[in-house]
Amino acid sequence: MKGKRRLKKAPIIILLTFIVLVIVGVSYTKKYIEESNYKKTIDYKLLQAGYDKDEISLLKEKTDEEFMNSLLEIDYDEMYLNILKEKYYIKSNLKKYIDYYEEHLNSKTYDIVSIVNTNRDKEYYSDIKQSDTSKNYLLINNKYYQLPEDYEPNNLVDISVQHAYGKDNKIVSEVYEAFKQMFNDAKKENITLIINSSYRSFKEQKEVYNSYLQKHGVEYTDKYAARPGHSEHQTGLALDLTTYNTTGDTFDQTDTFKWLQENAHKYGFILRYPKDKEKITGYNYESWHYRYVGVDAATKIKEENITFDEYYAYYVENVSN
Ligand code: DAL
Ligand code: ZN
Repeated sequence: MKGKRRLKKAPIIILLTFIVLVIVGVSYTKKYIEESNYKKTIDYKLLQAGYDKDEISLLKEKTDEEFMNSLLEIDYDEMYLNILKEKYYIKSNLKKYIDYYEEHLNSKTYDIVSIVNTNRDKEYYSDIKQSDTSKNYLLINNKYYQLPEDYEPNNLVDISVQHAYGKDNKIVSEVYEAFKQMFNDAKKENITLIINSSYRSFKEQKEVYNSYLQKHGVEYTDKYAARPGHSEHQTGLALDLTTYNTTGDTFDQTDTFKWLQENAHKYGFILRYPKDKEKITGYNYESWHYRYVGVDAATKIKEENITFDEYYAYYVENVSN
């Protein structure tokens, strides 16, 4: 009896042992496959290359597979990550940021992003695109964007002599409405705004540019006057402002200038070529040149202390943001 019972138990024990072995075997194999698959992932490779979990998340969010693989071939470099962390980083410009960085190893990451976003990695007037007039008062016209010779804004209105020096001043009607509001509010505070220059056709800009060119040569001229087709004055959205008893050079010492610094954005105007931003705008400081961009854009540009060129690249042209 005893022997029989033992005999009956044996197959069960063998079966159980077999099942346990199968389970253990399967789970080990699974683990092994999982581990070897993980070792093939970009996360694992980046960890091995010295990037931590947060940095890997940043890389996955802001770059692509090709870029991450390229990092594996070079030494860990924090600068790449710092570029990705920049507020105005645009994913589609990644390759250009890297190219620029590699050619200018001492640059700051803010500058790399700003320069590339505003096309400054290319020579002025070297890679010219048509200005996108469908953007209306957010259109850009600078050394990289150009208006056609025959472009004229379709809602130009005459500026009253009450507001301007000279009779032949015209501006886009929406801009004139904003200016008049600003003019009236400034007047209440004993501030007088006077328009010195407004809409200029391609032909008129050509005359301005050529007269500078004859006197000063191309290098100087390009810092002060836009080449025909590249001036904001052709957009009908820009105004050169002044006040009594001043010249261009001294305008920024007047109360009118100070008032504009504090208030212009409330009416949708920005100082278009600020001091210390010459490298971004491509023009010397012009305390008199104001550009209408609407209240929202003007407020953001002031708050973030950026140029319209940077604003346009990040908030207007870069639709993914
Ligand atoms: N002075 C500005 C840059 C123009 O000519 O449009
Ligand atoms: Zn101007």
